[in-house]
Amino acid sequence: MQRIAIYPGSFDPVTNGHIDIAKRGLKLFDRIIIAILLNPGKQSLFTVEERLEMLDESMSGIEGVEFDTFDGLLVDYAQKRKANAVLRGMRAVSDFEYEFQMALMNRKLNREVETVFLMTGLRWIFTSSSIIKEAARFGGDVSDMVPPGVNRQIKTRFGY
Ligand code: COA
Repeated sequence: MQRIAIYPGSFDPVTNGHIDIAKRGLKLFDRIIIAILLNPGKQSLFTVEERLEMLDESMSGIEGVEFDTFDGLLVDYAQKRKANAVLRGMRAVSDFEYEFQMALMNRKLNREVETVFLMTGLRWIFTSSSIIKEAARFGGDVSDMVPPGVNRQIKTRFGY
């Protein structure tokens, strides 16, 4: 049986922290499906198509990852994709309560889907897509926090 995990999120845009989690997750799973939640409630900088392209470019050459989008319940999507786990990165303590709530709710909704947390690499512990966008918006250098292609896209989007 293949061990398949869904790594869900907004990925607006993908950061080095996400890539670190995906790469380390591949030591535990045969296949990781990185899935962007189609979430009209969360304002995004990049369209879903742009985010998928950036994911694809940033992880080209990494075997075992694929990219997709989903809406509705995560556990339903996991079941549809025959995944038995949800992969999440845990950053600072502030993530804990939210992640704990989500994992418990998902477990209540479907006991067949386990949530697996990996500690985010120390370098990325205080990183988030929003904070990176905030810094970049005002010309801050974020080149060591995102893949080169994403850095280019961010600069273009903010017009420099
Ligand atoms: N490195 C850097 N940043 C990271 C990171 C890492 N390893 N892991 C998470 N982050 C950041 C993201 O960049 C994101 O930043 P932002 O808020 O500034 O954009 C932030 O942490 C939140 O993470 P994200 O993974 O995008 O989660 P989310 O909260 O937007 O979405 C879902 C979480 C998609 C898993 C959840 O909403 C979901 O499953 N929805 C479907 C409905 C459902 O089934 N709900 C479950 C019942 S509760």
